[in-house]
Parts: sequence; structure tokens; C-alpha cells
Amino acid sequence: MPKLTYLSHSAFLVENDGDTIAIDPFLTGNPLAPVRVGDIHPNWIILTHGHGDHIGDALTLAKRDDATIIAPFELATYCEMHGAKAHPMYIGGSREFPFGRVKMTIAHHGSSVTEGNTIIYTGNPVGILLTMKGVTLYHSGDTGLFYDMKLLGEMNEIDVAVLPIGDNFTMGIDDAVKAVELLQPGLAIPMHYNTFDLIKADPQEFVDKVKENGYKARILGFGESLDY
Ligand code: NI
Ligand code: MN
Repeated sequence: MPKLTYLSHSAFLVENDGDTIAIDPFLTGNPLAPVRVGDIHPNWIILTHGHGDHIGDALTLAKRDDATIIAPFELATYCEMHGAKAHPMYIGGSREFPFGRVKMTIAHHGSSVTEGNTIIYTGNPVGILLTMKGVTLYHSGDTGLFYDMKLLGEMNEIDVAVLPIGDNFTMGIDDAVKAVELLQPGLAIPMHYNTFDLIKADPQEFVDKVKENGYKARILGFGESLDY
């Protein structure tokens, strides 16, 4: 049974059978992060897009622990150019890795890395379906609501969906509630809120509205784990 740990913002750890997969590991500079870079030791890192609050500490972790970064093609190339091992993928593609299956899905957002006064575009952003031990986690990445979530829900039995609720850059609460209806996950967990003033949101309001709508949701605390 894989274990999911929420590291705040969009950062999660998934642990299973000796593998540790970090998703969007933004710890340094994240005021809500319950752990520091030295506390986690992933052997795989999955990135949804290049923004600083998602690539986070990925390069540091990958180089320190010889972990492989799985990312959309341009972002994977950027990581390789900066000395990390990377595996490129893209939207619609799936692949069986030693730890499980990853499929990249669409996300409506941007993707870039800012270096000094330069913005380096890193392709398209993605969401991720991660299947291990027969259970599927959907991490939407940063995205607005899109109706193809219905297709994702029809074609995948999603056990846990983690969805942004912070508004401004991504879905807000009401759109995320609609996303749950489209995806039909076994459980919905809110993410991408309260890290900065711009994305202040009440996760309990999301949970209450999802439940009113007939679906399951819960808050995962910062540093809290869940076997799923
Ligand atoms: Ni972003
Ligand atoms: Mn973000």
C-alpha cells in the first residue's frame, strides 16, 4: 500500500517498497514546508512544470541522491543541462518505471524557469497519473478547470486526486469542487493554498463543499501521511 505524505503547496512524497518519489519538491523558500531538503531522500522526482514553486529543490535533490527527474521534455532537458539525470515524457504518454506507471495529462497553465532577468520557457505543464500496486494517484499540477477531467475519470479509476484550490494562478475552491465531480476520485485532497498571500484559501470550505456534493474529501496536514 503506497504512502502519501503532504509536504505543503504541491509537494508530495509517495513511498512504496523502498522507492521514494517526490512530486514538485518545493521546500527551500516555502514557509509552510514541514521538512527541509536534508530530511527527504527520493530516488525519483516527478515535476509537473518549471515554475519555482514546483521545480523547487529538485536539482539539488537529484544531484545529491542520484535521483532521476521525470518531467515534460523541455523541463527534463533543462534539468539535464544543469547536471541532473532526467527522463523526458509528454502529455498522453505513459511509461512503466521500476516503481510504477506514470502517465502525463494536460494542464492549463504555464511552465518556465526564471534565471536572473531571463525567463526560460520549459514547454507545457502537465498533470500526473501515478499507478502503483494497482492504486492510482492523480496530481493535477497547477491548472484551471477543464472538462477533459471527465475523460480522465472515465478512463482511470482514480483513488486519490490532489487538486489546487488557491485560486489566482489555478482553480479556486468552486472550480476544484467541480473537478472532483468530473474526476470521481475515491478521495480528494486540496493543495496549492496558503503558501503565499495570493493563494489564501480555506481547505475546510473545499472539503465541506465536496462532501455536500456527495464525494469524499479530506485535508492532509503539512507533514501528514496517508496509506492509500
Ligand atoms: Ni505554476
Ligand atoms: Mn504553482
